[in-house]
Amino acid sequence: MRIVQVPLGQRSYSIKVGGGLLARLGADCARLKLGRRCAVITDSNVGRHYAKAALKSLAAAGFQPVLITVPAGEKSKCLSVVEKCCDQLAKHRLERKSFIVALGGGVVGDLAGFVAATYLRGIPFVQVPTTLLAQVDSSVGGKTGVNLKAGKNLVGAFYQPQLVLCDLDTLKTLPRREYVSGLAEVIKYGVIYDAALFARLERDLPKLLRRETASLAAVIARCCEIKAEVVGQDETESGVRAILNFGHTIGHAIENSSGYGKFLHGEAIAIGQVAAAKLSQQILGLPAGEVERIEQLFVRAGLPVKIKLGSALRKKLFAAMLLDKKVSDGEVKFVLAEKIGRVRFGCKVGMAAVNGVI
Ligand SMILES: NC(=O)c1ccc[n+]([C@@H]2O[C@H](COP(=O)([O-])OP(=O)(O)OC[C@H]3O[C@@H](n4cnc5c(N)ncnc54)[C@H](O)[C@@H]3O)[C@@H](O)[C@H]2O)c1
Ligand SMILES: [Zn+2]
Repeated sequence: MRIVQVPLGQRSYSIKVGGGLLARLGADCARLKLGRRCAVITDSNVGRHYAKAALKSLAAAGFQPVLITVPAGEKSKCLSVVEKCCDQLAKHRLERKSFIVALGGGVVGDLAGFVAATYLRGIPFVQVPTTLLAQVDSSVGGKTGVNLKAGKNLVGAFYQPQLVLCDLDTLKTLPRREYVSGLAEVIKYGVIYDAALFARLERDLPKLLRRETASLAAVIARCCEIKAEVVGQDETESGVRAILNFGHTIGHAIENSSGYGKFLHGEAIAIGQVAAAKLSQQILGLPAGEVERIEQLFVRAGLPVKIKLGSALRKKLFAAMLLDKKVSDGEVKFVLAEKIGRVRFGCKVGMAAVNGVI
């Protein structure tokens, strides 16, 4: 097992990465000295596979867990589901020392984290992320929240967990498309921060695609370390945290304009990262060979690197990009790479240049 420390003063916590961690959930929670009552919030898919094991482990450690299962999917990230969860917590008399276990992907993590941040003005919570995306991204950094009709993640709170357990065994049941989509975020960490990680991904990709525990442990722990380091320097997103958005300016526009659900997030940001690499070549002189390496790694992972755009969709995509908060005076701010492992944020790019790379 690997342990990554997230240093945030009094709110510091550990991320454990390894196999068999779910069975030790109860023992780990016992060490945190929380109250006996707790709630496991999960979704209908994850619950089917792992709720029993989580409840068993918690009960064996002397806790009294209740299970709250929400429908799987992004639709559960909404205020009416927050209310339903809180009603359940109140009904089962969870109090200030009680805690919540978020067992699932990013949807459950964001929802349960927000419930934990707001129920009784905040009770402790533990994350057990079960998607690759949640393990390397959404469970680290303390962003929690839900969607409104007007847009994604418009209601939320920065709220840190007490502990994160990345049980690699849970990834075995993850649908392949979801798993591969998570790899897009993994590759991102190599591009933005760590050339050695990028080279390791090039070398170990077949092992990662087979979901081999040893390779996964090293890679996931490194990704968490990078995210924790970046977030540690900028907890509330005023500066360097922006580098985590590499590939996301175009990626988000693709998600928004093509209708949610057509592209998974990882697929959209794979296309976005390749486009950003091409812009990086033009604007910051990223060597052509490195652009090629970035593109090839996504291709080998089975991720899309291009999008077919008719003129209507192209218009919609640019409109979506201009609506984004990263725009000023018709120029969009991008995160661009100087070389693999080092990026700059806040690079202003004109629309004509963007048009040339997608
Ligand atoms: N808080 C943050 O910093 C942050 C960062 C990135 C993304 N997010 C959010 O994360 C969400 C996306 O997360 P996601 O990609 O994990 O999606 P998700 O939680 O919807 O999970 C994807 C699908 O896989 C299923 N699933 C999850 N784990 C499984 C397992 N082990 N075995 C079988 N099936 C499993 C889920 O039921 C779901 O159908 C979005 O709402 C996004 O906004 C948050
Ligand atoms: Zn992302």
